[in-house]
Amino acid sequence: MLTVHFRADDIDFGGSRPGVKNILGGAASFAVIGARLVSGAAHARSVSWIVDVGSDFPPEALAVIRSWDTDCVFRKDHSRLTTRAWNGYHPDEKRGWSTVSFDSRRTIADKGDIDFKYLTPKLRLDPSMLSDTQVWSRTFHMVCSSSRCISIVNGILQRRDELHQAGQAPSPEHASTRPIFVWEPVPDLCTPEEQENFFAASRVVDVVSPNHQELGMMFGQPGWSQESEDGQQLVQRILASGIGPNGDGCLVIRAGKEGSYAFLKAQKLWLPAYHQPGTSGARTVVDPTGAGNSFLGALAQGMVSAGREPFIVIESILSTSEAWRESLESWGLRSNLPMALICATVAAGFVIEQIGVPHISMSENGGKELWNQSEFTERVRLYTQRLFRTLDESPQRHLLTN
Ligand SMILES: Nc1ncnc2c1ncn2[C@@H]1O[C@H](COP(=O)(O)OP(=O)(O)O)[C@@H](O)[C@H]1O
Ligand SMILES: [Mg+2]
Repeated sequence: MLTVHFRADDIDFGGSRPGVKNILGGAASFAVIGARLVSGAAHARSVSWIVDVGSDFPPEALAVIRSWDTDCVFRKDHSRLTTRAWNGYHPDEKRGWSTVSFDSRRTIADKGDIDFKYLTPKLRLDPSMLSDTQVWSRTFHMVCSSSRCISIVNGILQRRDELHQAGQAPSPEHASTRPIFVWEPVPDLCTPEEQENFFAASRVVDVVSPNHQELGMMFGQPGWSQESEDGQQLVQRILASGIGPNGDGCLVIRAGKEGSYAFLKAQKLWLPAYHQPGTSGARTVVDPTGAGNSFLGALAQGMVSAGREPFIVIESILSTSEAWRESLESWGLRSNLPMALICATVAAGFVIEQIGVPHISMSENGGKELWNQSEFTERVRLYTQRLFRTLDESPQRHLLTN
C-alpha cells in the first residue's frame, strides 16, 4: 500500500499549548501512522513515504519519523521552509507500492488549540509525477475535492493503461486488476453546492468516507444520524447514485465517538469506537485530531492485509459468530472491508490518546512492538472479542439482518 500526500504543510507548530511544539501532525503523518500500526514491525519498511524537508524541519519530528522505521525518503532543500510532504506506503517491498494517498490540504495549528484550516495548495500532485512502480499500487488513498478525486483516478488509470500498452505491467493479472481507491472528501468542500460533484466522484472510487458532520453539512442537515429517517434516506440516496464503477463500492461514515457506519448496497456494518463513551477507556481520549486520517490510512493498509496477523486474529475470533459469517458472505468481493474497518477503528483508538501521534517502544525482552505501551494486535484481539459479544447479543445493531 502506498499513500501519497502532497500537501502544503506537514508539521504542526503549536502555539501556547504545552506539548504541541514540533511534533508531527497533519493529515499526512496521521494517515501514515494509521497504516504503520496495521503493517506492524514485520512490514514497517514497506511503509514508504517521501517528506520534503525545508530548513525549518524540527529535529524532534525527524526523530519520531525514524522511530517508526518506515521507508521514509527525505528530500532536503534548505533554501526554503518545510512546506510540502509527499508520503507513501506499500505493504510488499517486492511487489511495489499499492496505495497512493493524495492530500491537498494545509494544516495549521492555531494558538491554544489545534484548529484546522484548509488552504489552496501551492503545489498539486499530478499522477504523472508518480514513478512507474507507484502507479501500480494496489490501493490509493486521497484527501481532496471531488474534481481532484476524479482527475487523480483518471490520471492513474490512464498511466497504468499506457504502461500496460508499452509492456511495462508487473504482471498480466496486475494489469487487469483495477486498484482500490479510498476517498476522503476534504471537509471544507462538504457544502450543498458540492452535492452533485460528490455523487460524481463517489462513482469512481471504491470507498468514500465523509465524517458524519461533514455529510450533514453537505446535505443541509444538522448532522448525520443512523437513527433518523433523514439519515437513512441520505444513505439510500448515495448508494442509489452509485459508489464505484460497478456500483459495489462502500460508504463509510465516520462518526467520532460513535464509531463508524459502513454501507454497501445490501449490507451495513456499525463498528463502535475503540474507546467507547461511558467506559473507562473514554478517559484516555485526549485529542481526536487526526483520527479520521489515521482511520483511513489504516483502512487502506487493512484492505491489502489479508492473511496477516491482525486479520488472522479477527478471523479466529469471529469465525464462530454465525451472524458475522453470514454477513461476510454478502460482502462478496468486498469481504476484506469488515476486517480492514476493525483495523482502522483500533488504529484510530491509538491516535486519540495524545496530542500528535502514538508513541512506539519495544517490550522489555525486546520481542514486541508497543504503541502507547500496548500491542496493536492485542488491541485488535480485545476489540474483536468485545465485538463478538455484542454481535451475539444484538446482531441487528451491527449488521443488516433479516
Ligand atoms: N471522541 C472520540 N472517542 C472515541 N473514539 C473516537 C473519538 N473521535 C474519533 N474516534 C475514533 O476515530 C474514528 C475516526 O474519527 P472521526 O471523528 O469519525 O473522524 P474525523 O477525524 O474526520 O473527525 C471514529 O470512527 C472512532 O473510531
Ligand atoms: Mg472527529
